[in-house]
Amino acid sequence: MTRRTSVTASSAPTTAPTKHPGILAWVDEIAELTAPERIVWCDGSRDEWDRLTDELVEKGTFVRLDGKPNSFWCVSDPDDVARVEDRTFICSENASDAGPTNNWVDPVDMRILMAEHYRGAMAGRTLYVIAFCMGPLDAAEPKFGVQITDSPYVAVSMQIMTRSGARVWDKLTADTEFVRCLHSVGAPLHEGRADVPWPCDRTKYIAHFPESRTIWSYGSGYGGNALLGKKCFALRIASVLGRDEGWLAEHMLILKLTSPQGKTHYVAAAFPSSCGKTNLAMLEPALAGWQAETIGDDIAWMRFGADGRLYAVNPEAGFFGVAPGTGARTNPNAIATVDRGNSVFTNTALTDDGDVWWEGLTEQPPAHLTDWRGNDWTIDSGTPAAHPNSRYCTPIEQCPSVAPEWNDPAGVPISAIFFGGRRASTVPLVAETFDWAHGVFTASVLSSETTAAAAGAVGVVRRDPMAMLPFLGYHVGDYFAHWLKLGAQADTAKLPKIFQVNWFRRGEDGTFLWPGFGENVRVLKWALERLDGTAEAEWTPIGYVPSADALDLTGLDDADRALVGQALAVDTDEWVTETRSIDEWFAGIGGNRLPEELREQLAALKLRLLGS
Ligand code: GDP
Ligand code: PGA
Ligand code: MN
Ligand code: MN
Repeated sequence: MTRRTSVTASSAPTTAPTKHPGILAWVDEIAELTAPERIVWCDGSRDEWDRLTDELVEKGTFVRLDGKPNSFWCVSDPDDVARVEDRTFICSENASDAGPTNNWVDPVDMRILMAEHYRGAMAGRTLYVIAFCMGPLDAAEPKFGVQITDSPYVAVSMQIMTRSGARVWDKLTADTEFVRCLHSVGAPLHEGRADVPWPCDRTKYIAHFPESRTIWSYGSGYGGNALLGKKCFALRIASVLGRDEGWLAEHMLILKLTSPQGKTHYVAAAFPSSCGKTNLAMLEPALAGWQAETIGDDIAWMRFGADGRLYAVNPEAGFFGVAPGTGARTNPNAIATVDRGNSVFTNTALTDDGDVWWEGLTEQPPAHLTDWRGNDWTIDSGTPAAHPNSRYCTPIEQCPSVAPEWNDPAGVPISAIFFGGRRASTVPLVAETFDWAHGVFTASVLSSETTAAAAGAVGVVRRDPMAMLPFLGYHVGDYFAHWLKLGAQADTAKLPKIFQVNWFRRGEDGTFLWPGFGENVRVLKWALERLDGTAEAEWTPIGYVPSADALDLTGLDDADRALVGQALAVDTDEWVTETRSIDEWFAGIGGNRLPEELREQLAALKLRLLGS
């Protein structure tokens, strides 16, 4: 077979920068199947960025911004704005290994089915080959992926979100293992067919083959479905690698906190999508003297080090952050990061002077905007100007709060882990769990209201264990057992303490009881003082909660201060109701794979509630 090469005047590299036989054979095989017009091997250079972004501007996909250097505005197809959980599949060899929380299709059947969609799918398009590494390139065992895509939007975004290009090709030797990541938007340009700014297909499949470390994504251009290093590799496939190799791939931010006394702690926190990870990762502390620095905002890979502590690495190199709600008051570090440019904005609004806008960026919207659907927008339009899941994609290195050690292959030692969700009731602002097993139980029954980050209804409470429900590559019961086992093997004194938090509890008038954002440092401070044994707490059936005066409320508004008691309250009746819904959740996991220890934890919680 002949390898297709470009005949255009383009300066794109059309000869393979690798001799890896597995990669060469795989690219040939996929090119044969998908029939692209040309193949481009991405080198990750500024030249390539300029060429691709110019092409995207010419095609009408990108609008170059005047308001920010080297930055672009883009709107998607209105039906391709979020992850598609009902189209996401874990195609393990045995159905039971996918567990009750995942869609499963037999891997052979899925390959046959999807191959028919892929056949000729890249006609008239360019096939880009992107080599990338999740985590620092100088890690002891760097985790490589190669993504094939027919989307230049994806190629550009992968430059921001991952370590990619020539420096990765150079690292790949003939036998380097890599995750095969195949992506097509599923919109072939057959003879005479005109392209559209955001090609995609009505039919979508986001399929994972855990045993063969392969990802097949078809039909969507949206980040979580198409930037395959992120959710597909760094969470779903990596969770399986972690199970097999004794580590954890988690949906967590990583934050460095330094007290006024100069004591540093690193913490990790798992919240479901659109529940506050990126904002907490870039926190501007409301308490004087505290410093917060960013290591990661979405994914943490964690393993125990030789010293017995749990170390976390951020496998990504960029932020793919929720735009709405991000403003100078709530998240000045995110604003400063994107203001430095080199960013892509998807489904935000566009201002008349060539900048982006979204709800929450400023208190008052500009008089006129182009909304995320490309329509004229004024305040009287009655619809959001930016899609609720509109996103900025920007390099982590530009973040003013980035910690110098964000790229350290050794990772950072984690002192505390926070699990949180979006709950209008029941869950207090913060509670410290009793020990690792109780912490794992608390995380295993984490719940949250659904958000616009996934297609489907918004605001429905569901169990989202460890904030990993949409990202688990294997059976949820086995995953709980893995967490319990890692804790049981570790030195108890060195295990991170586990806390539960809820920034989103509401009062009777429906407004948030806690101001959140930079004020969250008050909760983090209390938690760190609990590690040192210096903060007061009250025992409740669900864990230790700060006593009335234990939270440092220095400088907090009187109006906010008045609500802290309500935000911290643990209501026995509400929790009894909660245990009924937990009963259902555990029943759905199925008898033989839910660890007995978690069943015992639930029974113990019920007894504590009875006694309180
Ligand atoms: P992520 O998707 O988990 O990274 O969540 P983000 O940090 O992007 O936040 C998602 C949405 O929640 C945004 O609209 C934020 O403005 C909002 N948000 C984040 N943190 C807080 C908080 O502490 N309190 C409140 N009320 N909203 C928050
Ligand atoms: P998020 O990341 O957690 O920042 O929303 C994207 C996603 O989870 O879809
Ligand atoms: Mn996420
Ligand atoms: Mn985020």
